[in-house]
Amino acid sequence: MKLLDGKTLSQTIESQVAQSVKRLKQETGRVPGLAVILVGNDEASQAYVGMKKRACDRVGFYSVTHEMPSSISQEAIEQTIVMMNENPNIDGILIQLPLPSHIDTTRLLELVAPSKDVDGFHPFNVGRLSTALDGFVPCTPLGIMELLTKYNIDLCGKECVVVGASNIVGKPLAALLLNAEATVTITHIQTQDLASHTKNADILLVGVGVIGLISEDMVKDGAVVVDIGINRNSEGKLVGDVCFESVSPKCSYITPVPGGVGPMTIAMLLKNTLKAAQIHAQEAK
Ligand code: GUN
Repeated sequence: MKLLDGKTLSQTIESQVAQSVKRLKQETGRVPGLAVILVGNDEASQAYVGMKKRACDRVGFYSVTHEMPSSISQEAIEQTIVMMNENPNIDGILIQLPLPSHIDTTRLLELVAPSKDVDGFHPFNVGRLSTALDGFVPCTPLGIMELLTKYNIDLCGKECVVVGASNIVGKPLAALLLNAEATVTITHIQTQDLASHTKNADILLVGVGVIGLISEDMVKDGAVVVDIGINRNSEGKLVGDVCFESVSPKCSYITPVPGGVGPMTIAMLLKNTLKAAQIHAQEAK
């Protein structure tokens, strides 16, 4: 069994992004800019936004976080998005999810300019992905693909089983795997007999947020297992959705939690923001 080391790969990507930022600055005088909207005081969201901001600082991006109380109105968030769409110093806009229940999330995601949609959540970019056209791809699925590529894990014709069908992870991940010519099964909360699907997987990718969902008897010998879950157990430790101890001996490759998919998500946010900045710089010429 080999570990898919997202921590090391994300550090390599960060250095490459930092180099590109220097070059962009020398050539155009611009630095990539990321604006983050954070609503309310959800602890996990605050922690994620903090990590994203620190990563931006490390690679030399300009970044700004718009912190808003959970009582904020839909209109006020919309005004902020419109302002950032028009601000030439901002290349990427990220709305940290989830939002409070009185907020219409879809409307906000659709208001972000597709060229600044570094999370890849706008239907324009979702459509581009599903037709295998270039665009912005959600960071977690994109990071998983980079990790699999780094370890030369071939996807063409492989049985890939995705557990979880969210718009943020499961669905875009399935689209990327399909674009890479894998045979893709998406399972979800209503799936009958989950194990009957997971046992067939050459590559099993799990992101639902349920501790211990995947046990050893649900995994084929020699499978590649990608654990996208980030959960805190009763001892306060970070764990994934896969029982690492019992499943890992059966795998050819497996991601650790932490240190697998998590750091790749942040590295991809940096890459997407750099890409947006490079496109905006090109358009300004
Ligand atoms: N909430 C959980 N994951 C994500 C993500 O990748 N992007 C945003 N914006 N919010 C999230």
